[in-house]
Amino acid sequence: MSPPALDIADTQEDAAARAADWIARKLAASDGPFRMALSGGSTPRALYARLASREIAWRRLEFFWGDERFVPYDDPRSNYAMAHEALLDRVPVEPAQVHPIPTDDDPADAARRYEETLQRAYGADSLGEPPLFDLVLLGLGEDGHTASLFPADPVLQEREHWVAPAAMQSPEPRITLTYPALESSRAVLFLVTGAEKAEAVQRVLAGDPDFPAARLKPQGETVWFLDRAAAQLLPRASSG
Ligand code: 6PG
Repeated sequence: MSPPALDIADTQEDAAARAADWIARKLAASDGPFRMALSGGSTPRALYARLASREIAWRRLEFFWGDERFVPYDDPRSNYAMAHEALLDRVPVEPAQVHPIPTDDDPADAARRYEETLQRAYGADSLGEPPLFDLVLLGLGEDGHTASLFPADPVLQEREHWVAPAAMQSPEPRITLTYPALESSRAVLFLVTGAEKAEAVQRVLAGDPDFPAARLKPQGETVWFLDRAAAQLLPRASSG
């Protein structure tokens, strides 16, 4: 696993724009179906809005999610709703290209159903070469969580299932892809901005295992898009 690449922009807006350019280049340099896992929370909204204005081969993309809050799709907390509002409703993609995490019935059953969705898309029920995803987008919480892999959650130990309910209510129930699924990607892109994330960025990049994002060992390349505020605690050499 190669060391992560860092791209540090002056502002949150610049970081989002540079991340969008990187994704557009990645897609242009590939061919065939491109499976992409979207991240949730608030940070990616600016990235999705910029992606929506790029010239991209949208028909090649298959959209998945790295995690979801177990709420209805029209709930303001829904990662599915945010991605639709900021991106998917603004670009020419068909419903068949979009694979939301189910949030009906029961979290454990929904996680099982999503695992089946991923396995159907992948064409196998065990991960290997090629990876499951072409790109996984991730954010970072102040406690070092990513997707819905929160500190001390037993789901951090899950290495067999690809999808599982998080034990932690944060504050709503959540479903998350597990480490094996998130690691099975040609590329992982973290977009992290804001001074409040600076300590988590420093601890994760230093490999602190108490911060769940630090335990992610992606199969392919990892790139971090940061703004100066989120990068302020990094050693000078790595912060450009
Ligand atoms: C979620 C995300 C989560 C997010 C971080 C950062 O569902 O909330 O998957 O991992 O990336 O919590 O969230 P912000 O971008 O809102 O700071």
